Amino acid sequence: MKIVSVVGARPNFVKIAPLAQRFKEREFTHVLVHTGQHYDYEMSKVFFSDLNLPEPDQHLNIGSGTHAVQTGKIMAAMEKVLIDETPDLTVVVGDVNSTLGGALASVKLEVPVAHVEAGYRSFDMRMPEEVNRVLVDRISQLLCAPTENAVLNLMNEGEKRESIHFVGNIMIETLLLNLEKAHESAILTSLKVTEKEYCVATIHRPENVDNSQNLKTILEAFSEAPIPVIFPVHPRTKEAIVRFGLEKLSERNVMMIKPLGYLDFIHLLSMAACAVTDSGGIQEEALVLQVPCLTLRETTERVETLRAGANQLCSVDKKRIGACLVKALEKHPVFEVPLFWDDRVSGRIADVIERADFAIPGYSML
Ligand code: UD1
Repeated sequence: MKIVSVVGARPNFVKIAPLAQRFKEREFTHVLVHTGQHYDYEMSKVFFSDLNLPEPDQHLNIGSGTHAVQTGKIMAAMEKVLIDETPDLTVVVGDVNSTLGGALASVKLEVPVAHVEAGYRSFDMRMPEEVNRVLVDRISQLLCAPTENAVLNLMNEGEKRESIHFVGNIMIETLLLNLEKAHESAILTSLKVTEKEYCVATIHRPENVDNSQNLKTILEAFSEAPIPVIFPVHPRTKEAIVRFGLEKLSERNVMMIKPLGYLDFIHLLSMAACAVTDSGGIQEEALVLQVPCLTLRETTERVETLRAGANQLCSVDKKRIGACLVKALEKHPVFEVPLFWDDRVSGRIADVIERADFAIPGYSML
């Protein structure tokens, strides 16, 4: 069995780590392709070392660009890789432009695609990630779903039952496998903060950072939060803060730092009193770490986090963010972890791949 897997952006690295290990154990021939969507040390390289990921076999050096340029360049470069490598299967993870570019190039060459994290839906097609999720699922042959609700979403869209596999949440496997190591991090000491006496914030979604009013509101809310806010700043967000001249707003109560590596971030998150984010994965990691989360979005595809009482959706309104923060800091019951958010997800995915019979005529057809 020869597998090409495609990663490009920060959350992809976290999701591929346990799979790369499992593919090695099962003696699959694994070609790891890094598209180069994320390229800074803090956005890419540190994740490879923190997660013991092998060096990518191929690096496409795509870099930044508009969605069409970035996705188009990924497709063209991936086509070449797939023609050279002739894999039995392409594995794509998550919902970023590298996921879509890799999946599209693959199906057009009739190489079957496995999508890890299939079936998440925010039902908001204004989100680039939602467009990526819907399209990638539609063209994938193996749909590896993280939750029971994701399975239902896929069935409601008319996907064949035999294509859908409930395997669990791969991001949580990575979290559980690395938690002990993460707790060795000295990040709290170096930031001079105390356990449960700060909030950790990450913001990078276009609707929050490319809109000066929303970004201003968020930074004002952080500066008025009841506890200090540690804010690792995504490059896109940093650029927007400078462009809109909002640097001064975050001087009070907010510690702006560079994006953190995986282990430091997980330790910082696990020791926080609460998390404020617009990321997808952090909503899930916070639940498992029993850290209440505030998500600065109107919708979430991670509905289990809401059902567990671990997450609140919060629109960008200063009063509302303040009120949600107060609520998040109240004492809370233990959040129940959804089924299969455990440390055996990559094994289930490898089983699904081993059992799949790609020799069936038409298997790779849409
Ligand atoms: C991407 C994903 C998003 C994911 C996020 C995680 C898509 C559509 N979006 O968003 O789902 O949550 O990654 O971080 O794929 N930049 C750098 N250095 C880097 C990478 C990016 O400076 O290493 C800057 C560039 O100016 C770039 C901007 O960040 O224009 C945005 O990068 P891009 O990869 O297009 O999207 P993200 O916002 O990171």
